[in-house]
Amino acid sequence: MTLQNLTIVIVATLLSACTSTSQPATLAGLPDTGQPALHAVSDTRLRALMDQMNSLIFERFMAEPDIDRERRNYALKIADAADELGATVDVILSRLPALNLKPDEQTAFRALAVKLRDQAGTLKAQAKLNRIDSIEQTLDQTSATCSSCHALFRKLGH
Ligand code: HEC
Repeated sequence: MTLQNLTIVIVATLLSACTSTSQPATLAGLPDTGQPALHAVSDTRLRALMDQMNSLIFERFMAEPDIDRERRNYALKIADAADELGATVDVILSRLPALNLKPDEQTAFRALAVKLRDQAGTLKAQAKLNRIDSIEQTLDQTSATCSSCHALFRKLGH
């Protein structure tokens, strides 16, 4: 175990001993704003809307045209949430200097940020066209982008 990792383990142990509620992991080197990451909030909203839209298939007392209309409403909300997610990419990029990544990791970080923005754009377009199945697929691909970027500075563990 490197000294740095050891320090993280100790700090993490101390932190978990002090707090009874589970706080989101703060990142070494980053000021703790006490706020959840903006892009995480948008992503959560996006996936909640997707779940709500999917649960419409269990709707037994609604007529088909009404379900279609509801689905369309959700798709438009998803388009907005995707737009928001894309807009948070600038915030992600603003965090880069504090992360102390190696030059090649910085390149990867930037590429993944751009990828997330592109995927958010794709989601928005698909949602506007009501392409529900495609939205699901793009959301899955987006999760891979989330994990790849977090893996660069690992401590977030997802
Ligand atoms: C290009 C890099 C990058 C991508 C892509 C990325 N993140 Fe992050 N994420 C970060 C950075 C940097 C932080 C910490 C700084 C901050 O809070 O803004 C962070 C923080 C978070 C946190 C807060 C961690 C915690 O528990 O405190 C969550 C949750 C999160 N991201 C979820 C996601 C999800 C979901 C996605 C995909 C939609 C995603 N991230 C995509 C870089 C990225």
